[in-house]
Amino acid sequence: MNKTILITGGAGFIGSHVVQLFVEKYPDYQIINLDNLTYAGNLENLKEIENKPNYTFVKGNIVDADFINKLFTDYSFDGVIHLAAESHVDRSITDPVAFINTNVLGTINLLMAAKESWKDNFEGKRFYHISTDEVYGALGDTGFFLENTAYDPQSPYSASKASSDHFVRAYGNTYKLPFVVSNCSNNYGPNQFPEKLLPLAINNIKNSKPIPIYGKGENIRDWLFVHDHAKAIDLIYHKAENGKTYNIGGHNEWTNIDLIRMLCKIMDNKLDREEGTSEKLITYVTDRAGHDMRYAIDASLIEKELGWTPSLTFEVGMEKTVDWYLENEAWMERIVSGAYEAYYDKMYNS
Ligand code: NAD
Ligand code: DAU
Repeated sequence: MNKTILITGGAGFIGSHVVQLFVEKYPDYQIINLDNLTYAGNLENLKEIENKPNYTFVKGNIVDADFINKLFTDYSFDGVIHLAAESHVDRSITDPVAFINTNVLGTINLLMAAKESWKDNFEGKRFYHISTDEVYGALGDTGFFLENTAYDPQSPYSASKASSDHFVRAYGNTYKLPFVVSNCSNNYGPNQFPEKLLPLAINNIKNSKPIPIYGKGENIRDWLFVHDHAKAIDLIYHKAENGKTYNIGGHNEWTNIDLIRMLCKIMDNKLDREEGTSEKLITYVTDRAGHDMRYAIDASLIEKELGWTPSLTFEVGMEKTVDWYLENEAWMERIVSGAYEAYYDKMYNS
C-alpha cells in the first residue's frame, strides 16, 4: 500500500538506519527525511539511498512551527516517525535550553501539525515517537525498566525526552491522535557521532589517544545493535495497536569499564597490536554530573506481542561495529575535521 511517511532526524545515527530500512524495504512508500543537519546530522550516512525514487531529503528545523505546518500541507503525510532530537546527555548539562527547544517544542510542533492535518479522519494515520530508557531514571543493582515503570528523569536530556513522551500521550488522550511510543536502551553500530562512548573510544584507540572513562567506570548500560532497533521500529510502526508503548533492549548489560576492556581486546586484535596495548590508554576522568548508575530494559512485551528479538550476539555486533569504523576511516576523519558539514552544500547547493 502506498504511504507517505515523515521520518525526522534521519541524518543522525539511528534515523539513518531507519530511513535506509524503510526506503529499501518499502519501495511503494514515499519517505521524507526531515533533518536540520545540526552537528549530529550527516547526509553521508544516507549515501546508499540518496538517489532512490522513493526518498526525499528536506532540510528544516522542527522548532519552526510555520515551516512544519507547511510541510504537512505540502506532503499530506500518512505517518510520522519522530527521531529528531538533541541526544547527548553531556551537552544537555551545558546547554539545556537547546534540549527544551528541539525535544519538547519541536515535538509539540509536530503533534500540532499532525492533529491539524489529520483532524478530519485519523483512520490509518500514526504518530510514532521514538524515546529512550533514560526517562525511567536510574536503577540500583537489581530490577528492570518495564513499560509501566514510573518516569523519573535525572538529566536535562532525559527530562526533555520525558516531557515530549508526556505530550505525545496527552495528544492521544485529549485529541485521540493515533500514536505509539517506544523507549530503547543504548544503541551501538555504524554512523554514531564520535561524542558517544563507543565511537569515541574506537577513534581514540586507533589514534593511540587516552580513552576517557567517567568516574570509576562502574555505570551500567544495556547495549543493542542499531539495526535491531530499526527492525523493532519497523515492527512497531506496522503492527502495534494505537496508544501502546514498547520497551526495546538487548538483555545485554555491561559496566563501562568491562565494555571498554572488551573493545580494547578487539581493537588490539584488529590493529595487530600486542594484547594489552589499548587497555593502557584507559584514563579515569571526572564523573558526569548526576551520572545515572544503571539502565536495563525488560523487553519481554515486544518479544511476546510482536515477536521481536535481538538478532545478533554482542560479540558479533561489536566485531561488525569495529570493522565498520576501521573500514570507514574517511567518514570519521571528515567528522573530526568538520568537513562533513560541507557535504550538504556539495550535494544540494552546487
Ligand atoms: P543523533 O544525535 O545521532 O541524531 C539526531 C538527528 O536529529 C540529527 O541528524 C540532527 O541533525 C537532527 N536534529 C536535531 N535537532 C533538530 C531539529 N531542531 N530539527 C530537525 N532535525 C534536528 O541521535 P540518535 O542517537 O540517532 O537518536 C535518535 C533518537 O533516538 C532520539 O530521539 C533519541 O532520544 C532516541 N534514542 C537514542 C538512543 C541512542 O542510544 N542513541 C537510544 C534510545 C533512544
Ligand atoms: O540509554 C539510551 C541513551 O543512550 C540515549 O537516550 C542517548 O541519546 C544516548 O546518548 C545514550 O546515552 P548515554 O549517556 O548512556 O551514552 P554515552 O555514549 O554518552 O555514554 C555511555 C556511558 O559511558 C555513560 O555511562 C557515560 C559513559 N562515558 C561516556 C563518554 C562520552 C564515559 O565514561 N566516557 C565518555 O567519554
